[in-house]
Amino acid sequence: MSIPTVTLNNGVEIPQLGLGTYKLPPQDTRDLVLRAFDAGYRHLDTAQMYRNERAVGEAVAAAGLPREEVFVTTKLNNAFHAHDDALAAFDRSLEELGLDFVDLFLIHWPLPAVGLYTEAWAALEEIYASGRARAIGVSNFQPHHLRRVLDEGTVVPAVNQVEVHPWFANEEVRAFDAAHGIVTEAWSPLGRGAVLADPTVARIAAAHGRSPAQVVLRWHVQRGDVVFPKSATPERVVENARIFDFELSAEDMAAVTALDRGERTGSHPDEENRTDR
Ligand SMILES: NC(=O)c1ccc[n+]([C@@H]2O[C@H](COP(=O)([O-])OP(=O)(O)OC[C@H]3O[C@@H](n4cnc5c(N)ncnc54)[C@H](OP(=O)(O)O)[C@@H]3O)[C@@H](O)[C@H]2O)c1
Repeated sequence: MSIPTVTLNNGVEIPQLGLGTYKLPPQDTRDLVLRAFDAGYRHLDTAQMYRNERAVGEAVAAAGLPREEVFVTTKLNNAFHAHDDALAAFDRSLEELGLDFVDLFLIHWPLPAVGLYTEAWAALEEIYASGRARAIGVSNFQPHHLRRVLDEGTVVPAVNQVEVHPWFANEEVRAFDAAHGIVTEAWSPLGRGAVLADPTVARIAAAHGRSPAQVVLRWHVQRGDVVFPKSATPERVVENARIFDFELSAEDMAAVTALDRGERTGSHPDEENRTDR
C-alpha cells in the first residue's frame, strides 16, 4: 500500500499517514513499528515526553530501510523551553533515536504561563539551520501563539500538530494554519477510540464495507490533514493504513464534519502548563 505525501512549506514531503507512538507498550514498540513498516507506514510520531525514542530508533535501525524513506518526528518536552535547554534536549533526542537528523522537530506545547515558547522557537530555528531537523514546527499552538512565532521568528512553522477528530473539528486553528501555509497534523485522530462508536460513523462504515476507524481516518485525509493513529494491536495497525483505496462522498464528509461537538480529549493549549512530564 503506497501512502501519499503532503508537501510542507519548505518543500519537504511528509507521508500523510504515520504511526502514533504515545502509550505504545514499551516492550512491544519495536515489533509494532516493524509491523507498521511491513504494512507500508514510513512515518513515525514520537516525543521526548513519550520516553520511547530509543525503542523507535531501534525499530528504524532494525528495519534497515534507506534513511531517506523514513520520516521521524519528535517533540521538545515541556521542561526545556529555555534556549540552551532546548538545544541540549534535541541532542539527547538524536542520541536516543540513534539518528543524525530528524525529519520534523516540534515544540510539544506552548505553555503560555511559562512564557518561553518564542525562545524555544529561536532554538528550533538554529537546529533547522544546522540541518539536523529537515523541518520544524509546533504542536498545540492556538492562533494567538502562532501569531507571536510568526511576528518574532524568521522561519514559518511547517506544521501545527493539534487535536482534531470528528467530535473536535478544531476549524479555527485549521483555518489559521491553512492561511499561513502551515500543515495541520491531527492528533488523536480517532478521538482515542471513542468516536468509533458514533452511529453516523458506523452507518457510513457499513455502507462502504469499511471499519469505523478507516472511515474516520479517510475523513481526515480527504480534509488534507496529516494523521498518525496509535494502535498497540497489530491487526489494527494494518487496518488503519488501508484507507487509500476508497473515497467518502461529499455527503459522507459533511455528515462526519457535522458531528463536531467541541469535545476535547486533551488539555486546552492555554491551560496546559505542566513542565514535569
Ligand atoms: N502533540 C500532542 O500533544 C499529542 C497528544 C496526543 C497524541 N499525539 C499523537 O497522536 C497519536 C495518536 O493519538 P492517540 O494515541 O492519543 O489516539 P488515537 O490514535 O486517536 O486513538 C488510539 C486509540 O484507538 C484505538 N484504535 C486504534 N486503531 C483502531 C481501530 N482500527 N479500531 C478500533 N480501535 C482502534 C487504540 O486501541 P489499541 O491501541 O488498544 O489498539 C487506542 O485506544 C499519538 O500516539 C501521538 O503520536 C500527540
